[in-house]
Amino acid sequence: MLIGQRKILLDEVDSTNAYCARQLRSDAPPEGTLFAAKQQTSGRGQTGKSWWSEAGKNLTFSIALYPGFLTPMQSFALNQWAALGLLHYLQTLSGFPDGTLAIKWPNDLLVGGRKIAGILIETAMQQGRIAHAIAGIGLNVNQDRFPDDLPGATSVRLQTGRPYELDAFLEGVCVSLDEVYEKLRMQGVGALQADYEAYMFGRGAWRPYVIRGVRKEGLIRGVDEAGRLLMSFRDGNLHAFGFQEISFGDGPPFAL
Ligand code: BTN
Repeated sequence: MLIGQRKILLDEVDSTNAYCARQLRSDAPPEGTLFAAKQQTSGRGQTGKSWWSEAGKNLTFSIALYPGFLTPMQSFALNQWAALGLLHYLQTLSGFPDGTLAIKWPNDLLVGGRKIAGILIETAMQQGRIAHAIAGIGLNVNQDRFPDDLPGATSVRLQTGRPYELDAFLEGVCVSLDEVYEKLRMQGVGALQADYEAYMFGRGAWRPYVIRGVRKEGLIRGVDEAGRLLMSFRDGNLHAFGFQEISFGDGPPFAL
């Protein structure tokens, strides 16, 4: 097993992604080394946002990877890997609501439309290759209350009604991430595509999106290899959107 075979457990750190980046600069941790923290003082989210998690209640960790088998153009596959690895582990938990898990493009994990995990992949390029990647994962496990400014958040405990031992939970997540990583490494990016698309939030249903400030109905078809969102419109056009070119707006909740 590669993912999490070596684990560095920290009580408090600014951000496990930042910590992992410092380790990658100072020495070369073996692939799969995992840095987990009970508390982050400046947890980072996507698009410059912060990631807040109650101390000691959830999993916040980062994994050092050297995915030399991917070209830079294929780096979206790392988002697919992390989202599917988490999703498949959650599916194994007893009492976890069946059929409600979804991946909100590019890589938020939702259950019943609420966010249960966030993923922040940071890649470093060197001479046109991926030199290393840092896969940062925040998974809400035991937190049972969220601040008012996070109304769309949930946790595993809120879904199943029971608490979890975090070390064992992390081990289970690592096994699942490892399985999917191995599949990606051995079979290539195409191997995750159908599975990822099958779980995409909003796929195959008309719902509103906000595109360059304008609200428009669209239907998600899937993603291309570069990770762009493929969407059809009522006029028959098909468009590929890059990150931040489109948002999910605040339309009626999508029935999963
Ligand atoms: C998101 O915005 O949805 C991504 C959130 C990623 C949060 C995790 S927590 C562990 C790792 N360290 C960070 O600073 N961020 C990621």
